[in-house]
Amino acid sequence: MSKYIIVGGNKIEGELSIQGAKNAVLPLIAATVLNSSTNIIHDIPEITDVEIMIKILESLGCTVKRENKTLIVDSSRLHNYEIPEVYVREMRSSIVFLGAMLSRFGKIKVSYPGGCEIGSRPIDLHLRALKQMGAVIEEKHGFIVCETVNLRGCEIQLDFPSVGATENIMLAAVRSRGTTVIRNAAREPEVIELGNYINAMGGRVFGAGTATIFIHGVEKLHEIEYKIIPDRIVTGTYLIAAAITGGEILLKNVVPDHLQSVVSKLRETGCIIRSDKNSIELKTPRKLNSLESIKTLPYPGFPTDMQSQMMALTTICDGTSLFIENIFESRYKHVNELIRMGANIILDGRVALVKGVKKLTGASVTARDLRGGACLLLAGLAAEGETVLENAHHIERGYDNIHKDISKVGGNIVKIQ
Ligand code: UD1
Repeated sequence: MSKYIIVGGNKIEGELSIQGAKNAVLPLIAATVLNSSTNIIHDIPEITDVEIMIKILESLGCTVKRENKTLIVDSSRLHNYEIPEVYVREMRSSIVFLGAMLSRFGKIKVSYPGGCEIGSRPIDLHLRALKQMGAVIEEKHGFIVCETVNLRGCEIQLDFPSVGATENIMLAAVRSRGTTVIRNAAREPEVIELGNYINAMGGRVFGAGTATIFIHGVEKLHEIEYKIIPDRIVTGTYLIAAAITGGEILLKNVVPDHLQSVVSKLRETGCIIRSDKNSIELKTPRKLNSLESIKTLPYPGFPTDMQSQMMALTTICDGTSLFIENIFESRYKHVNELIRMGANIILDGRVALVKGVKKLTGASVTARDLRGGACLLLAGLAAEGETVLENAHHIERGYDNIHKDISKVGGNIVKIQ
């Protein structure tokens, strides 16, 4: 298993361009099955989650080509409706094929995704909504089989603005009869992106990015060429890489608007942040202040995907910071590893209290999940001495060659296979 060796202490200084967004590209790849035609998507990040989505498309009968950062999917010859279990186990987001395949093929068989490192992650909201739209769902022996003759538009009230459920409903509704209305819909930029993608292939989605989304079913969709949005979580991670090392960074290919909650918290620590239309710049102050409280919430609240990286920063801020993780119950797997590096953190259920220390020290630590892994990498950049970060594969699920990016801006990090 690969690992990163990080020697801390170097300031992160310079300029980087941000990769395409992981959380946007995964539902878009599922959406490629909808049009029975060609999909060309630009700015595809080189991450393992994309590789798994490609394998799923191929197993369904799609032809997939990858040319550098461009993905070309021909979904005209799709003929299979079973998603191999191994891929669902490797990547939970593959559940977004439920809506897309019902829409395109009228049937899908997928293994039950179950829990994962960050929590139990049920899919009851997805399944209830699809049933409301006319899908017949059988859950047996750990598999879900969904079938429908005709999906019909209806009004769906979500109990929670779930990103995955909102996306699955949107995908299912694209070619259904009539209009589907999603109330209490997720408002994440990635949901807007999926709406834009569907519309660019001839669908009719209105209101994505607000709490009420309308999807008017259409009969035919056409081929599409599309460039995906930059990754707001990678942007936030790189801003913190600069802040935690006392450095200065300019990030290009960014949508600053998507980062408001993160920027506001970084400003609270004293960081100086300037942005214009497509870039964002951070300068670190002499002293970093702690954060009074930080609660993860659905967008536009503070993202759960940035909780661990922000925690890495607060371990060396002056004072005490309070974290409340509201989205996933087991998203503090990085805490014990940070403590090994000298952090002072008290954990109680969904609450973590971080008392800033003068410095972290390098240690041998293990990534347990994607963002928690990124948090440890950041801590390693700031720590005195060498950090050995095991299980780099978790980080590679979402970050496109992070070690190369960080090296470009002065970090001392190497990957060992
Ligand atoms: C979540 C994040 C998303 C992030 C992604 C990857 C939120 C709101 N969502 O999306 O921003 O990009 O992880 O890390 O921050 N839930 C149910 N039943 C369901 C579906 C969800 O109870 O059927 C609950 C979950 O347990 C969780 C909450 O709703 O507590 C949010 O889940 P959801 O938004 O669906 O998760 P993801 O789509 O994975």
